[in-house]
Amino acid sequence: MEKIIELKSVTKKFDGVTALRNVSFSVNKGEVVGLIGDNGAGKSTLIKTLVGVHNPDDGSIEIHGKLVANWNALKARQAGIETVFQDKALCPQQSIVWNIFMGKELSYPFGFIRQREQIEVANKLIREIGFTSKLIDAESPVGNLSGGERQGVAIARALYNEAELIVLDEPTNNLSLNETQKVFDFIYNVKKSGRSVLFIGHNIYHVYDISDRFVILDRGEVIHMLSKEKVHTADDLMKIMRETIKGH
Ligand SMILES: Nc1ncnc2c1ncn2[C@@H]1O[C@H](COP(=O)(O)OP(=O)(O)OP(=O)(O)O)[C@@H](O)[C@H]1O
Ligand SMILES: [Mg+2]
Repeated sequence: MEKIIELKSVTKKFDGVTALRNVSFSVNKGEVVGLIGDNGAGKSTLIKTLVGVHNPDDGSIEIHGKLVANWNALKARQAGIETVFQDKALCPQQSIVWNIFMGKELSYPFGFIRQREQIEVANKLIREIGFTSKLIDAESPVGNLSGGERQGVAIARALYNEAELIVLDEPTNNLSLNETQKVFDFIYNVKKSGRSVLFIGHNIYHVYDISDRFVILDRGEVIHMLSKEKVHTADDLMKIMRETIKGH
């Protein structure tokens, strides 16, 4: 299986706290990986190390099997790893198309923006990832969208930026069931297009449905890596999680 990114024996410490201890972990092409674990287990730290926000204190990172030095957020983006931050990163007064192209506008040599083309691309992107409402198009203001749809715009932007791997830290936090389902539909469509997704989820049942593989972190260590074939139901996954937490 083709690995997009691999962390090898990564350790990350903050002052006295070891947030990640000897973590080895990878994401393969075309798979959805669900990262789970208790509060403070190191999930966000793992994701931030992967996307170049944090530097590991020890261990190495490989992209497509090649060792990278001085991994940082810019290099991660150049390698096709896009992070979807909670909707803070979007500008609600602006349209969907504005938000998708922000900082990367299509323009003519004199700097005029090719708005019609941008609208076409944006409409295509949002339909591709699963926007179905007839009331929403590329020119709708983001402020009118639901929480789930906003995540969709952020995902569409990642796709426009040619993401090979989209990383989401708790994409369904604070969303209703309905909106959560929308986000998972978007993720499913991203997977169908051959890209990979890594996300942190709190609700085991949701994580179970959407993921091909589960990684359980506990106090900074990867204690389980399970493919879906090995975990037959969401309840099984729940049981494994409970046993992990009980071990504290
Ligand atoms: N920037 C930081 N400075 C100091 N300590 C940090 C920092 N980031 C994380 N930590 C510590 O590292 C450990 C792991 O934190 P992390 O945020 O990765 O956990 P998490 O699994 O994402 O938790 P949650 O489910 O609550 O979001 C915690 O003990 C946390 O306090
Ligand atoms: Mg976190």
